[in-house]
Amino acid sequence: MAHDDSSLTRRKVLAGAGGAGLLAAAGPVSVLGSARPARAASAGGASDGTPEQIHLTWGADPASSVTVSWASPGPAARPRVLLGRAGRVVPGRTIPAVQRGYTDGINGETVWTYHAQITGLAPDTGYAYTVTADNDASSPPFAATFRTAPRGRAAFRFTSFGDLATPNTQWVLSYGQSAYAVAAVESFRPLFHLLNGDLCYADLNPTVQPEVWRDFGNNNQSSAANRAWMPCPGNHEVEFDNGPQGFTSYLTRYTLPDNGVPGFRGRWYSFRVGSVLFISLDADDVIYQDAGAFVAGPAALTPAASTGNPPIAPGTSFYISGYSGGAQTAWLERTLRSARSDPSVDWIIAQMHQIACSSSATGNGSDLGIRQQWLPLFDRYQVDLVLNGHDHDYERSFPCRGFDSMAGTEVATGAPAATLRPHPVTTDDTGVFDTSRGTVHLVVGCGGTDANLDDYGLDKADGLAQAKVFTRANRPVPTSTPGVFTRPAADAVEDATWSARRDTSTGYGIAVFDVDPGEPGGMTSIRVTQYHALGADPVNPATGEPGAPTPDYTEFETFTLIRPRSDRLRGTGTVPRHAPASAPGG
Ligand SMILES: [Fe+2]
Repeated sequence: MAHDDSSLTRRKVLAGAGGAGLLAAAGPVSVLGSARPARAASAGGASDGTPEQIHLTWGADPASSVTVSWASPGPAARPRVLLGRAGRVVPGRTIPAVQRGYTDGINGETVWTYHAQITGLAPDTGYAYTVTADNDASSPPFAATFRTAPRGRAAFRFTSFGDLATPNTQWVLSYGQSAYAVAAVESFRPLFHLLNGDLCYADLNPTVQPEVWRDFGNNNQSSAANRAWMPCPGNHEVEFDNGPQGFTSYLTRYTLPDNGVPGFRGRWYSFRVGSVLFISLDADDVIYQDAGAFVAGPAALTPAASTGNPPIAPGTSFYISGYSGGAQTAWLERTLRSARSDPSVDWIIAQMHQIACSSSATGNGSDLGIRQQWLPLFDRYQVDLVLNGHDHDYERSFPCRGFDSMAGTEVATGAPAATLRPHPVTTDDTGVFDTSRGTVHLVVGCGGTDANLDDYGLDKADGLAQAKVFTRANRPVPTSTPGVFTRPAADAVEDATWSARRDTSTGYGIAVFDVDPGEPGGMTSIRVTQYHALGADPVNPATGEPGAPTPDYTEFETFTLIRPRSDRLRGTGTVPRHAPASAPGG
């Protein structure tokens, strides 16, 4: 599965980033090596309202609403955003920020965050803003720019990866590539970025979770203050003693579009840019795999006395599968049905952390829960593209529709296993795929963590790609060491007939998507280019060679997704609104 690497240099990448269809903000492009800003010069403490970790998310309508969020070392006095049109010196509006705080359930540290929800913006327009408070020690206050989304069918660019971590290598799974990954986002100047879960692995550093989040937020700021970064939760956002699903750190820091489901705000949501509906899901709710916060032992995890929380015994994991009681899947179906009956929506792109189609050997693999609960809906409503993280590599599937029955094998017994293997509608890797005929799955867990998992499965018997699949919950089991527990790997394998391309040369990269709305009644397309950071792996699993973080992102592959515009579907009357979901083999 080795592939030739493009000779495209980063300089060429940057030059190429100015192509057609770009609607990037006019904000400053970060300089490599300075992506992680220093903390404010003030000494910190209860009276320090200096903004840090500044980041943007879309409001309910990305063409007219943006939220500015940040944190400060202590409570801020009159936290606010001053807003003006880009290029004007004097801001025109003041937007007060809402304070949200929480006390970390493990170390007892209080975190102060602020959220200014800006509405009434003009579409496709550049704005300048300043973030400040009466007790802001920075001078001048932090300032940046952003651009709102276009309205109606329009060209735009977005980028994506997951599994970012922080550049502070004193934290578990943090790695220097994390800073270069943020700089890579900025270099492509997308309208926005999708961050596919496992943001910073604070749960793996349980006694210092707020510090890890702070390094994450300050690393991201050099891009996320200039354009929306839209996240989804991963297994590592699940933290002990931080809320019913462990998401308090995540939910406090982000203000995300409202899903309208009482009790579950922020965990999943959708937003619309141009003719694309983006759906952000929390796969923690439907997967079999147990991979949230975990105490392996032999020591218990003992929260600070101030929290009042009891010690957490070895062998304890925070397993939240099924937490919404079906509410998320019901919301997903409503959202998909509505989108596919909307003549102004062409594309449906889903973002989630865990994976239906991964053949990583050293990582997690695929999960039957997603295949059972969500893939039938993706078939019925023609979801075009699914973006994942979780495995720290790059893998692209062929377009898939329906399932192959009993295509898997139980690892323990060798018996046939019902893995609901997604059925590729073609295995001809032409580089152009009509996603109205099948969903393409893309694993881009290639952000910046210290665990490069770009080693892929192989069925030695037939030489085909092989995927591990979780078909059961891998709850903790004792090891041979007394008091120490582990969570088993996936329980089944299958030949990964759906796997089209795997990057065996590095586990680091960024996917860049250029949406072309096409012409009325015609086809629309998305050109996808994966850029990878050759040599960034701490150890290359293919060669054993040691590597180091690198700012050089070069092209790995380009392919194009196409589909008929929905105005064409309705105009001809000959193409069904939803093609029936064929299910070969059941
Ligand atoms: Fe993960």
